[in-house]
Amino acid sequence: MLAEEFDLTVNREDTPRSAGQLRTLLRQHDALGVTVTDRIDASVLLVEDCRTKLIANFGVGFNHIDLDAARRAGISVTNTPGVLTDCTADLAMTLMLMAARRAGEGERQLRAGAWAGWRPTHLLGTRVSGKILGIVGAGRIGIATARRAHHGFGMSILLHSRSAVDPGIVQELAAQTTGLDELLQRSDFVSLHTPSSAETHHLIDADSLALMSSDSILINTSRGDVVDEAALIAALERGSIAAAGLDVYEHEPAVPQALLSCENVVALPHLGSATRETRVAMGMRAVANLRSFFAGGSPADLLTEN
Ligand code: DGY
Repeated sequence: MLAEEFDLTVNREDTPRSAGQLRTLLRQHDALGVTVTDRIDASVLLVEDCRTKLIANFGVGFNHIDLDAARRAGISVTNTPGVLTDCTADLAMTLMLMAARRAGEGERQLRAGAWAGWRPTHLLGTRVSGKILGIVGAGRIGIATARRAHHGFGMSILLHSRSAVDPGIVQELAAQTTGLDELLQRSDFVSLHTPSSAETHHLIDADSLALMSSDSILINTSRGDVVDEAALIAALERGSIAAAGLDVYEHEPAVPQALLSCENVVALPHLGSATRETRVAMGMRAVANLRSFFAGGSPADLLTEN
């Protein structure tokens, strides 16, 4: 579709571009389509002779783009909110169920030919239905996860959010809004849905992990650096929390061996939005943003205007 309307260069290898490559692209193109793996920092954005006026991010999270530097460089930035909410919430539930029911361990055991047959105490996990779920970050994905958990699994919902949560949603979910410490202390499952920013960097650190009970399970489908990964590994090894379900990591694509060695970790490779339907919808959203920008309008998903 874009090739019909624009003079298009495509990254057919589907690999992240280096800072040098990004600078060259910024000098040569009116707009750039980027993904979470392209590090668009000030050293890239403040390149001399920049031609680019719009960066259309293929994804909702934008912590890989320095918005202040983009503003200074006169570049507008858009993202693709909304279209990946359901699939990311589905993945949070997948991780919750897998971690609680030890599904990864069971599958590894069976594939290794190590399953000796049914027995009363084999791979006992913990029940999900009816438990308490703490949602950190009550934006679209946090609320979509809470809805699945409450309406589908009868879970009680605790919400922690920096901004006020719509009272109608709180009522629908029969939820309680709490401070972070109280949420960590009371929840059986804690699911993180807060964007990565200077304020949320290592929001879950050794002190917050220490507040969680030894039966509790941490789920992260947001961004890796919201959790202090070294502190999480220590907590898992010590057994001060029961398990973790992770889709994101602090230094992707690197994942510490110590984390992978923990049997009580379910580890997925950043698959939150990875369904055909959602990736097509993200693409269409980026196309709409590009079209509207170059038609002289204001794209629906503008993060920074110049
Ligand atoms: C996003 O959109 O932010 C996801 O993490 C990548 O699809």
